[in-house]
Amino acid sequence: MVGAGISTPSGIPDFRSPGSGLYSNLLQYNIPYPEAIFELEFFFHNPKPFFTLAKQLYPGNYRPNITHYFFRLLHDKGLLLRLYTQNIDGLERVSGIPVSKLVEAHGTFASATCTVCRRSFPEKDWWADVMMDRVPCCPVCAGIVKPDIVFFGEPLPERFLLHVLDFPMADLLLILGTSLEVEPFASLSEAVGASVPRLLINRDLVGTFAWRPRSRDVVQLGDVVHSVERLVELLGWTKELQDLVQRETRKLDGQDR
Ligand code: APR
Repeated sequence: MVGAGISTPSGIPDFRSPGSGLYSNLLQYNIPYPEAIFELEFFFHNPKPFFTLAKQLYPGNYRPNITHYFFRLLHDKGLLLRLYTQNIDGLERVSGIPVSKLVEAHGTFASATCTVCRRSFPEKDWWADVMMDRVPCCPVCAGIVKPDIVFFGEPLPERFLLHVLDFPMADLLLILGTSLEVEPFASLSEAVGASVPRLLINRDLVGTFAWRPRSRDVVQLGDVVHSVERLVELLGWTKELQDLVQRETRKLDGQDR
């Protein structure tokens, strides 16, 4: 289970860190209160702040960091059952984790849906508008085309239901870079069996780790990159991970040319 805290090392602000988090810096978008940027009522009133944020988060602008590649390495080793992410930056896909191993619980910019006729559009059909500060509109009915990001009050993607099968099967739960403040995602932290160890890697102590810890919980507070590097060292995977990061970085450099 991961949140915005795994992408801050890539340069993307999280939501709630005082001062640096997105919710502390949305004043520039002229919105009544931070969360409004992900609320449908405000979006239909004024979609521009959301699309301005979308342009800032444009997937091409940022790269995965060692934390994303750690999960990729877990997948390569056949150890990743599923990665549940709250993030909308798409960096899990960029790191090479197959979509079949991902649950993008708060949606993705990879597709969009017309808010009127419900037609679906792939990213290529509307990112140009976003990059040119235009609100994308449906070519059929002229309705606003909204990226498939889950706004507050909207249902989570159907793939989120995979948790019903995954969490009872898990023999280890890793939780990284999240405040565990948003439901129903946060409650997944309670969905593994009572004897399953849970490892929290986060700057702050959060969720039930703070007020209802389990006997097999392990908490590593501090910077996520340093903590992952230490965990990888203990696993003896440092060289493997470095090689993976180098290979993937060369691929991305090649794409940028
Ligand atoms: N190292 C370790 N922890 C970090 C780092 C870092 N470099 N950067 C941030 N963190 C921690 C913060 O201290 C915080 O506990 O990551 C957590 C990020 O929490 P939030 O900003 O609340 O982000 P997240 O948990 O993903 O938010 C959940 O809220 O607004 C909604 O839909 C939005 O998906 C988002 C959801």
